[in-house]
Amino acid sequence: MSLEGKKIILGISGSIAAYKGVYLLRLLQKSGAEVKVVCTPAVSHFVGELTFSSLTGTSVFSGLWEEKWSEHVALGTWADLMIIAPATANTLAKCAQGLCDNALQAVYLAARCPVVIAPAMDVDMYLHPRVQHNIHILKTDGVHVLETGTGYLASGLQGPGRLLEPEEILTSVQQLLTHNAGKKLADKRVLISAGPTQEALDPVRYITNHSSGKMGYALAEMAQAWGAEVHLVSGPTALPAPHGVHFYPVVSAKEMFETIKDMHKEQDILIMAAAVSDYAPPAIQAEKIKKQGDTLELTLHKTTDILKYLGNHKGMEQFLVGFALETNNARAHAEQKLRDKNLDLIVLNSLEDKGAGFGHNTNKVTLIDRGGEVQTYPLKSKKEVAVDILEKIVQLISL
Ligand code: CTP
Repeated sequence: MSLEGKKIILGISGSIAAYKGVYLLRLLQKSGAEVKVVCTPAVSHFVGELTFSSLTGTSVFSGLWEEKWSEHVALGTWADLMIIAPATANTLAKCAQGLCDNALQAVYLAARCPVVIAPAMDVDMYLHPRVQHNIHILKTDGVHVLETGTGYLASGLQGPGRLLEPEEILTSVQQLLTHNAGKKLADKRVLISAGPTQEALDPVRYITNHSSGKMGYALAEMAQAWGAEVHLVSGPTALPAPHGVHFYPVVSAKEMFETIKDMHKEQDILIMAAAVSDYAPPAIQAEKIKKQGDTLELTLHKTTDILKYLGNHKGMEQFLVGFALETNNARAHAEQKLRDKNLDLIVLNSLEDKGAGFGHNTNKVTLIDRGGEVQTYPLKSKKEVAVDILEKIVQLISL
């Protein structure tokens, strides 16, 4: 996708990965964007400002006191997008706290546009609870914090923390700008369920599954970026609620059903991405179940199939999407669910595919629509899969 006419601020902070910022700058320019560079003082230890100013044909904004005092405000209002790549642990922390002791921070605080941050640091720093907490804060602020790459780091250690390749950052930027500009779901109300449910057995135990919620949250975030009014009903997950969506935390299948039942009629699009328990204990034991014999038998009762309920009560204009997680005979099972539950589209995840399903940041899906059209996609990040699913929905509802 061309970035012709887009104005982008590229913020660089002092990391060994700063050299990748040069490649990113070139890629953005080749895509047609006008780019201005802002550096933290530490960048000069890794890459000279002259490199950036030569490539952009304009001076680099790096000192709060040398330029016109309002330069940060001018840049903040000029840009369509700000990218901070690489973002060090220090820069992440300053952004999360709203500190303003250098040019990059001043521009970050003054920016009115969406911000994309690509972190880069050593594995232990990246996994440190404080850094993760700062990332969490930034995400809740609506900043698009990208994942890091995993592999060998400059220190020789291995793990997450590596700056994404410039091409990957460019793809995320292109998606964000297209979708922000496109607002393809403007005026649509979208209900999305996500995560697992927990079915309590007694005051200390419950039955659940491995769903992380990542797929449903990615859908919610993307639908929101496309202009939809998003209602996210989520079982317990470790994820922050995406900025700007209406969030309904629930625990059990029953609670999820009751929450959805209250509001499904007003929705234009319903997406059941949650891994809802099919069975639950009929009642929660008041006291902890004590250890007794060598075996323990549990009696579980079927929960309401929420998706089926939505299919049976579907409004004339409503579009209903279900998920199918299969381990065998995947396509036949998914097609059966599409028919049985009166769906318009089913997203098939097969656990036979490596990198698909629970917990991963990636997914590999096949989309089957009511008309029988089947489309299989390659392994992608869950955010990209969310885009594929929403693209398909937009295409089908506009037929
Ligand atoms: N679903 C639901 N309510 C339930 C169980 C499942 O709404 N009580 C939804 C899920 O959110 C998903 C779809 O039904 O969109 C399919 O879930 P899945 O577990 O794959 O299928 P089931 O219909 O439960 O059948 P089975 O477990 O036998 O494969």
